[in-house]
Amino acid sequence: MNKPRNEVSEQELRRQKEYCERIAQLLHQKKQGVRPLACTKTYGCQQNEADTELIRGMLQQMGFGFTENPAQSDLTILNTCAIREHAEMRVFGNLGELSHIKRENPDFLLAVCGCMAQQDSVVEKIKKSYPYVDLVFGTHALARFPELLYDKISRGRRVFDISGDEQGVILEGVAPVRKEGVRAWLSIMYGCNNFCSYCIVPYVRGRERSRRFEAILSDFRTLLAQGYKDITLLGQNVNSYDGGEDGPDFPELLEALAAQPGDFRIRFMTSHPKDCSKKLLEVMARCNKVCKCIHLPVQSGSDRVLEAMNRRYTAEHYLSLVEYARSLMPQITFTSDIIVGFPGETEEDFEKTIELIEKVRFHSLFTFIYSRRGGTRAAGMPDPISREEKQRWFDRLLDVQNRISREENAKFAGKTLRVLVDGLSEDPKYPLTARTDGFQLVLLRGSPENIGRWADVKIEKSSTWALFANLEG
Ligand code: 5AD
Ligand code: SF4
Repeated sequence: MNKPRNEVSEQELRRQKEYCERIAQLLHQKKQGVRPLACTKTYGCQQNEADTELIRGMLQQMGFGFTENPAQSDLTILNTCAIREHAEMRVFGNLGELSHIKRENPDFLLAVCGCMAQQDSVVEKIKKSYPYVDLVFGTHALARFPELLYDKISRGRRVFDISGDEQGVILEGVAPVRKEGVRAWLSIMYGCNNFCSYCIVPYVRGRERSRRFEAILSDFRTLLAQGYKDITLLGQNVNSYDGGEDGPDFPELLEALAAQPGDFRIRFMTSHPKDCSKKLLEVMARCNKVCKCIHLPVQSGSDRVLEAMNRRYTAEHYLSLVEYARSLMPQITFTSDIIVGFPGETEEDFEKTIELIEKVRFHSLFTFIYSRRGGTRAAGMPDPISREEKQRWFDRLLDVQNRISREENAKFAGKTLRVLVDGLSEDPKYPLTARTDGFQLVLLRGSPENIGRWADVKIEKSSTWALFANLEG
């Protein structure tokens, strides 16, 4: 027997659907038949993007159309991120900017959800200082969004809900409304059990829980049928995917999806280095439709800091993974996350990070200055290094990585690469964007009807951030 998965029950799904219908009726009366409009704003990671797509699915069931402009909307929802203080300040800043809409249109509804909304301290602040926010619900209450919105609309009072079991639930049966295009996200699991000492995610997103294989496969086939060609499997730590007793582990899941018929490619994120197995790298190497790129956050090159971060691997182990992956797939690209200025980090520790970066030669990096998150273990650690000093380290890190990115990109000049043309750029000389298998950005000369097509292009030149080619030449 597969272990229970905390899926929202059929009965509860029906109940929420009824709330969607009631909201549709209420709004139809109130707006005298004019279609209500909703605006969603997403902060933070791809998991949040995927949650917003589910929220948009529910909004569609309630009869909403969509607008990008909050001032034109009847309801605006901010799906927030709590990972660093900077992300939270942006949300509070944007909330302030939205207050004028409420003054001009008292019927305008404003909701805040996501990771920030799962924290008591944030909810208290919104209650006191942002009286024009109508509805606040945490990540655990996502499946009850229709009921909460109905409560707000029918009773008129403010609604705050951050209840829910920290185990978290899995919401199946709501069709997401995705952005049009050729790239799509597909969640395979939720939550995190790792408790890295700096990270708020396990507190706001609950414990790890994996979707059923059949549900993932069915969504995957739907995406292919809808024309998506570049699909990213999502989870806070995809390597912990657990398909149950008779179900697949992550490498098996990846292989099963890659075996589906069609012209597509698969990526995944995020992988934790402690769980990145040889088996996974071998599956990547033998499946043509699995991209030869991996986002493998290392965070630091110092074993002392890695231990204090509770990462449970060493720099040497990380380098051995990179080496093994390259022995199987010489063309593989690596990207990573780095935190600079973790509490107690010394200049010597920081130099070890630089050394590791020089050894791996990442394609690109996401770099962050450590941000203290209340309630995490690191928040209680002494942190004597000044902000200015951390900024100096950070700038040095960027300089080193920019040089590496520029040098790595330059190696592609004159080579022919297969790309998927995926959108429009802002560069009039190279108006199209495309991505390689390794997720390198390629700017292309060519006409927009090529969007959605595969092409083999010869790289003319490169910069730190992109490769350049002519689609018609
Ligand atoms: N401060 C700075 N960066 C953080 N990250 C997570 N928590 C923090 C924090 N408190 C970074 C890590 C993680 C990425 C998603 O965000 O590098 O991999
Ligand atoms: Fe945060 Fe670590 Fe979990 Fe990633 S693996 S979400 S950094 S606790």
